[in-house]
Amino acid sequence: MTAAGDWTGKVGDVWAKEWRRTERSFSHLAPQLARAILAVAPAEGRFMDLGCGVGSTSAAVAQARPLASVTGVDLSAPMVAIASERHPLSNSRFIAGDALTLVVPPLDLIFSHHGVMFFDDPRAAFSHLRRSAVAGAPLVFSCFRARGENRWVDVLDHAIGAPVWEGTSYSPGPFAFADSAFVADVLAHAGWKVLAVEQADFDYVAGEGASDEDALADALDFFGRIGPAAAAIRAAADDARRDLLDRIRTRLARYAVSGRVTMPASAWIWTARAAGEHA
Ligand SMILES: C[S@@+](CC[C@H](N)C(=O)[O-])C[C@H]1O[C@@H](n2cnc3c(N)ncnc32)[C@H](O)[C@@H]1O
Repeated sequence: MTAAGDWTGKVGDVWAKEWRRTERSFSHLAPQLARAILAVAPAEGRFMDLGCGVGSTSAAVAQARPLASVTGVDLSAPMVAIASERHPLSNSRFIAGDALTLVVPPLDLIFSHHGVMFFDDPRAAFSHLRRSAVAGAPLVFSCFRARGENRWVDVLDHAIGAPVWEGTSYSPGPFAFADSAFVADVLAHAGWKVLAVEQADFDYVAGEGASDEDALADALDFFGRIGPAAAAIRAAADDARRDLLDRIRTRLARYAVSGRVTMPASAWIWTARAAGEHA
């Protein structure tokens, strides 16, 4: 579980330090999400990027819609600082805090790259977002499909011997929106009319280097800091850690080709519209 509160602490700090490698890992999904957002984005208006991280999605939309005003909001102050430095655009700004309390309605578009799976109460959160949006405003976001549909996670889960997840209740975290029926129910109850849910398969880039060996070393180092195996690697005593890293390395090796470790990954891209009146 990763709750919203974790992003203001260690998790957010690690993501801020590792932003280049996290961006690289999603580099084949980002253009798919950008296309979905721009397919429904109005020419102008107030847009919000919920959980903007270091600002790449905000910047892509701001550049494509120069008459719009894009606000990227993220719980992690270090990531927001990087976003502001990287993207000094006249029509975008970045603020640190909770998107549910900071952004002033009415919004003409809400979008998010993997930032909406961390609410304690998703129905209440999406209801609030809908009331913050003008009637008919689009909402577009990406989120992971199930762990088993994401080979990069499956491989790590097997290597660390993670128990098979059998829970049915909602728990905030990267895979909390894997069940499309659950998300459809959340959106419907919150007053969002779903227009499309698209399965977006992509190559998750885990490591790169001058050789396959270097790429594997990069991937191992990355997964030691971020992702489902990082806590187990950190917690293991020296010998156990060596064994664990060997097991992960062996499993990753089959995905190392031409100086890159890339593994199958899969996300949903949801597009919806706000029904009814705005607040
Ligand atoms: C998986 S990261 C994705 C970051 C960025 N969109 C990217 O793709 O690199 C999820 C982000 O959502 C942010 N987040 C989660 N809940 C939030 C909330 N209620 N308000 C603002 N940001 C939130 C976290 O701080 C975190 O940076």
